[in-house]
Amino acid sequence: MKHFLKETDFTASELPALFALAREFKANRGRHARPLAGQTWAMIFSKSSTRTRVSFEVGIHELGGNPLFLNKNDIQMGRGETIADTARVLSRFVHGLVVRTFDHAEVEQLAALGSVPVINALTDLLHPCQIFADMLTLAERWAGPGGDLVGALRGRKIAFVGDRGCNVANSWIMGANLLGMKIALAGPPGFDAAPEFDQLLAREGYAKGYEFTTDAYQAVTDADVVYTDVWVSMGKEEETAERIRVMTPFAVTPELFRAAKPDAYFMHCLPAHAGQEVAQEVLDDPRSIIFDQAENRLHMQKAILATLAAAKR
Ligand code: CP
Ligand code: NVA
Repeated sequence: MKHFLKETDFTASELPALFALAREFKANRGRHARPLAGQTWAMIFSKSSTRTRVSFEVGIHELGGNPLFLNKNDIQMGRGETIADTARVLSRFVHGLVVRTFDHAEVEQLAALGSVPVINALTDLLHPCQIFADMLTLAERWAGPGGDLVGALRGRKIAFVGDRGCNVANSWIMGANLLGMKIALAGPPGFDAAPEFDQLLAREGYAKGYEFTTDAYQAVTDADVVYTDVWVSMGKEEETAERIRVMTPFAVTPELFRAAKPDAYFMHCLPAHAGQEVAQEVLDDPRSIIFDQAENRLHMQKAILATLAAAKR
């Protein structure tokens, strides 16, 4: 059973086919095969979502399947039914699970105890669907039409500035290591990744697979991409005032963006808070590719769904 809980659930050798499939789905939207025909995929969400929810619902539908959205609070899991029983019961009904939650262990348990593929649609630890879609967005630009998508990413440098311990930062570290990209992260001390993430990174063979600095200008030097995310991730709301105070020096201003390579792209997984982690001027810059990132969630997730569905057989 193939799951997608973290970037390294795909090996480096599987990535060219995955990226090529995403490109094919994008180029042939509305005309391609429907490999989920006759299937229902449940989507269990414990957190808000715009992009992930809509792109998965549309994507499952476009692949011929039926998406079944389940707010965690509307099912018995929200009242304490165990993850084990939920995994076993849902496995009798549906062909796969897409899960957005807090504790990463929850997606691991659903995968371990159920008998259908599980896709991580964001946990506190990782957001792998986002990073693969982001990588597709960059690869399309750097590889050109028909070019080697995965090869085009190798050796490029990404600078992540802001909440450097968040799920999106963690996933970029894991993805960059898997794809052979360089990654530098800048943020305030004391907001590092959870020890759980460093342990996971080491288990995957990427111990110390990133450079961390408290100097945003150092991180963006020679960067091909400047990336940021919200300073207050879902579940961290009570830390809002402190996070804004310590992260304000790490805002992506036009001046900081200019310190990257002249042709560097600006990226943000969205939702953005203009005037906090990024200036409106940077969001509106011609080198800001934030809406292409959002669109590619659909195409990359369809490739992930189709690959997991095929691996199941
Ligand atoms: N980027 C992202 O995952 O957005 P949503 O929270 O809207 O799904
Ligand atoms: N780090 C953010 C990402 C939102 C898509 C969060 O977890 O809220």
